[in-house]
Amino acid sequence: MDGLMDDWKVVGRVLDHIDKGATDRGAATWREPVGNYVSPARLARELTEVFHATPTPFCPSLALAEPGAYFAREAAGTPLIAVRGADGVARVFRNACRHRGAQLACGSGKTRALVCPYHAWTYDLEGALRSVPHIDGFPDLDTSAHGLVPVRCEEHAGLIFVTQTPAGADTPPVDGPTGLDPDLTLVAAGETVIEANWKIVMEGFLEGYHIKATHKDTFFPRQYDNLNVVERFGANSRVVFPYQAVERQRAVEPTARDGSGGLTYVYHRFPNVIVATFPKRATLVINEPDGPARTRQLTWTFADRATLAADRPGVSQGIDFVNEGAKEDRAVNESIQRGLASGANDAFTYGLFEGAIVHFHRQMSERLGS
Ligand SMILES: [Fe+2]
Repeated sequence: MDGLMDDWKVVGRVLDHIDKGATDRGAATWREPVGNYVSPARLARELTEVFHATPTPFCPSLALAEPGAYFAREAAGTPLIAVRGADGVARVFRNACRHRGAQLACGSGKTRALVCPYHAWTYDLEGALRSVPHIDGFPDLDTSAHGLVPVRCEEHAGLIFVTQTPAGADTPPVDGPTGLDPDLTLVAAGETVIEANWKIVMEGFLEGYHIKATHKDTFFPRQYDNLNVVERFGANSRVVFPYQAVERQRAVEPTARDGSGGLTYVYHRFPNVIVATFPKRATLVINEPDGPARTRQLTWTFADRATLAADRPGVSQGIDFVNEGAKEDRAVNESIQRGLASGANDAFTYGLFEGAIVHFHRQMSERLGS
C-alpha cells in the first residue's frame, strides 16, 4: 500500500482487527546488521548521504511564529539558524558569521537583526550583511557577497524543512501530510538526550508489538497489544495505535466514523521525525543523531486553543501520560544500545508486525547502497 486511507476507513480496519485478533502485516521480514548502530563511518554516511540530501523537518512553523523569531540548532552535524523575515518568509542559514565564523545565536528568541556577538557584524532577517563596525578597516570588503549562507528551506504543513545539499541538486519535493493540525497552538518545547543510536529510538515509535510488554501499566490498559494499521507514503510511514475508546465507533455508520477520539496516528517523516496525534493535541519529535550512540531528542507539544482554555489540567494530564510511556521506551532504547556490546547478535530481526521499521531500514539501505 502506498498512500493514506481516510480516517473512517482506518476506524473500520481497526474494528475488523479487534474482531479477528489481527493486525496489519508487512510483506517481508528484515535483518539489520548490528554494526549499523555503532559505526562512526556508517553514521557519517547516513548524515551526508541521507539527511543532507532529504528535506528534513528542522522545527515547527510555530517556533517561528512572527517576523524576527529565530531558532538555532545543529541538524545532521551542521549548525543552522532558522529565522522568519520581515516579509513573513521562513529562511534557514548556516549559523556562522561571514567575518570570523562565530555563531550568530543559539536556542530561540526574537530579534530585529542577527548581530554577531564577536564584533557585531549585523545581518538583516533576510540574511544580508547590513552593518560592519569601523568598516574603514575592510577596504576591499564586498558586503553584498558576505550575506549569511542560505540553506534550502521549505515551509510545508506546519513544518520548516531543510535540505543541505547544494542548490540545484536533485532532491525530492516536500509534500504529503505531516499530521500537524494547523488549528493547534504550541504549548511546550523541550530537549532530552537518549544514550542510544537514533535508529533505535526511531524504531520504538513504529510498531505496536511491544505495547503489552513494555507499556504494561501505561498504554496497554487503554490500547491493544500488537494492533496497528501501517501505511506508507513515499519514504514515510503512518502507524495507527488505537485506544479502546474506538469501540464507540461501532455504533456509527461506517462512512461517518471518526477516529479522533480513539486513534493515535504516528507519522514517520523519513528519516528522523515523528508527529503523533492525540485528541485535540499533537507532539513533534525530532531524533537528532549526536554520535553513533547518542540521540538528542527535541519535542514540541501542541494543543487545541479552546481545549486549553476549557481544561488545561486535562491537557497536562494527557501530556504526562504520554511522557510516562516515553520513559519506558527510553529505558528500552538505552538497554538495547548497551546490549550491543554483548556480541550476541550480528543482526537484528524485524518481523511482519514491524513493517514500518522494515520500510525505514529499506529506505536507508537503498540510499546508502548497503
Ligand atoms: Fe513504546
